[in-house]
Amino acid sequence: MMVLHSMASLVGGYTKLSYNDRTKKYYGKCLFCHSGTEVFCVDNKNAAFWCYSCGRHGNMEDFKIYAGLMRPQPEPEPEDQGAMEIYVAAAAYYYGCLARRTGTQAYAYITKERGVSPETLADFGVGFAPYGGGNRSLYRHLMERFDEQSIFRSGLVKRGKYGPYDMFRNRIMFPILDREGRVVAFGGRSLDGRGPKYLNSAESRIFNKHTILYGFQTAAEASKTEDTLLVCEGYMDLITLQAHGVRNSAAVLGTALTKEHAGLIRCFYKKVRLALDSDGPGIQAMARSVPVLENAGLSVDTMSFSPAKDPDEFFRLYGKEALKAHAACGSAPSVLMVRASSEPEAELVRQLVKRFRIKREEEARLEKMG
Ligand code: UTP
Ligand code: MN
Repeated sequence: MMVLHSMASLVGGYTKLSYNDRTKKYYGKCLFCHSGTEVFCVDNKNAAFWCYSCGRHGNMEDFKIYAGLMRPQPEPEPEDQGAMEIYVAAAAYYYGCLARRTGTQAYAYITKERGVSPETLADFGVGFAPYGGGNRSLYRHLMERFDEQSIFRSGLVKRGKYGPYDMFRNRIMFPILDREGRVVAFGGRSLDGRGPKYLNSAESRIFNKHTILYGFQTAAEASKTEDTLLVCEGYMDLITLQAHGVRNSAAVLGTALTKEHAGLIRCFYKKVRLALDSDGPGIQAMARSVPVLENAGLSVDTMSFSPAKDPDEFFRLYGKEALKAHAACGSAPSVLMVRASSEPEAELVRQLVKRFRIKREEEARLEKMG
């Protein structure tokens, strides 16, 4: 991250400031009260700011706290600490089940079918949750070190009618890290088509998918040299992007982008390039995300990996160089609407048009009555 030496350069990353020769101060729009006029004043010499509209004021530290840059993180509760120890142990176990068993179907799937190298498996700690053994291999492993109550509390093992059973079975496992690099959850991809394709750990005090972006550790590093963050939709997409040189990328975990995501991103990046799936739901999620990001002061563009569905498919069709080149250019969000009008999104467009038409007819009717 860039080191900011002055109040004006710090604030300047959030709101456009102009210098007034007469008062020798900077003025801009207030990012806290969203007042439309230039009510936000920065005195660079005295490292102070204040807003004439909402009254917020202070020094650089105060500004960072207001801006969410240094949102104080609550200390984890003791039982959360216990859960995190279990998550780390589970991550190590899952990783071993994949990396040390190169003859298995799971290993062939992830390395051959999905083309992930052993180095990349290690980088992301990708693992495998076994099945068989009474569906309780992880349970038995954890029981060697932890007490049963904590194991159940972690959510990784459930109480069933016939005794404990592992929550994740026969799945490729992706550990999810928080901002301090601690394992706080898992995503698991089914290998046998049973249950949902992807299963995530339940939300908890330490895991909230509305605040976490998968792969953000690397993206934060990459922000030293990049000003645009690429946002994609899936675990495999993110791994493919970062493993092949697009380190300024992160993935949402099966949700749309939230205010909290935007707050996190703007601490590191100026721009977001939306690269969600090029199908109907992906396009709709991008359209929804644009205002959320813009309200946080980020500029936004979009891109499509069409004719591929997602970055991972694109990579498998066209290779590494094409992926990097493609990821480097976005287009204005309005192009979304144009794209939505071409196949294969025709159905979406038909629905939108229908909705708009009904609304127009209704308005016309009200007008006639009015
Ligand atoms: P997709 O269904 O687009 O899958 O889900 P994908 O990423 O292309 O998966 P692969 O390439 O077949 O492995 C995109 C993302 O949505 C979330 C996951 O985060 C997934 O990576 N998702 C999807 C779920 O949480 N649950 C699901 O059942 C499906
Ligand atoms: Mn995919």
